[in-house]
Amino acid sequence: MSRNFTIDSIPGDGIGVDVTQVAMECVDAAAALHGFTVSWRIRDWNSDLYVKTGRMMPVDGIEQLSSGDGIYLGAVGTPDVPDDVTLWGLLIPIRREFDQYINLRPMKLLPGVTGAMPGIEDLDIVVVRENVEGEYSQIGGRFGAGTDAEFAVQESVFTKAGISRVARYAAEAAAGRGGTLVSATKSNGIIHTMPFWDEVVARTVAQFAGVTVDKVLIDALAARLVMKPTSVRTIVASNLFGDILSDLVAGVAGSIGIAPSANLNPERRYPSMFEPVHGSAPDIAGKGIANPVGALWAASMMLEHLGEVAAARSLTAAFESTLADGIATPDLGGSATTMEFAKEVRDRLR
Ligand code: NAI
Ligand code: MG
Repeated sequence: MSRNFTIDSIPGDGIGVDVTQVAMECVDAAAALHGFTVSWRIRDWNSDLYVKTGRMMPVDGIEQLSSGDGIYLGAVGTPDVPDDVTLWGLLIPIRREFDQYINLRPMKLLPGVTGAMPGIEDLDIVVVRENVEGEYSQIGGRFGAGTDAEFAVQESVFTKAGISRVARYAAEAAAGRGGTLVSATKSNGIIHTMPFWDEVVARTVAQFAGVTVDKVLIDALAARLVMKPTSVRTIVASNLFGDILSDLVAGVAGSIGIAPSANLNPERRYPSMFEPVHGSAPDIAGKGIANPVGALWAASMMLEHLGEVAAARSLTAAFESTLADGIATPDLGGSATTMEFAKEVRDRLR
């Protein structure tokens, strides 16, 4: 029986388009090598569509995606459209409608890559970010526009169900990774939601034999991740904290261009979404030098999620050995273009 997967690909804007294009070709090569096929449904849901129609995706966009096996995204955002419009018009609705409440962001020091500091050969961190509630909320507003008394209110939403399910997922991850789960908090300054976070995380993780919680204030954790990043293996964090920490960890490991992100609905009731951590990078868009490693690593996580574990391994081995041979894009100190790097990866998937 032949295996075929239907994947919705949303290249988006800027370098999202470059990295998605080459990553799809590499996925096709890995699929051919392992005897399955991927049918891509390319969606032009991006800032151009917004400028033309006032929407980042069609009215029935979520319904269209729901029949697929997964979603593969580049990045969205352009200087001409406010960032909250691009994010809330596409990414956040997909994450929430499909209950992708886990955002998994692994990072390690890749072969051939010099990190931002010495002595981090053993760097191996997984950030488990809560992905559908927390600080990213629509509750609040701007008041008194144009007056001297103008002000803004932004409410966070933390639920027991939301915290406990991300803590459970993270505890399971930590169990296979040394047993310590670092929980990012700020319960000294943020006195309602964060003590609640601490309590529910502690209570949830207590049910996992062999896993202990190391509760660390986010500011101190930021410093620790720079000074001693190998002392941390698994992190559970709220939507905002997890977002910031994952870029920080990627920076420590050499470039935000290498970082992958999986938006998971663990129960598999809905499609999950895979994307690089980085954005559309207007400063290098159109130059053909975007690092496709984050996109390739995300694609490998997608293949693993689809059950094609051998293909996922081949794809990861292909980009890792390319880096190990000293081929890299300029953000990592190399001189390869996006296309040149991807061609090397494809050649290794023959
Ligand atoms: P960014 O991640 O696009 O860029 C930050 C810096 O890292 C830039 O100097 C960029 O050149 C560099 N960089 C990022 N990815 C790279 C890659 N693959 N290869 C080489 N260098 C890379 O973040 P920024 O500048 O804050 O945001 C730009 C736009 O992207 C904004 O509109 C923002 O809203 C959007 N954005 C979208 C995301 C998404 O679609 N998931 C995530 C983050 C930002
Ligand atoms: Mg981010």
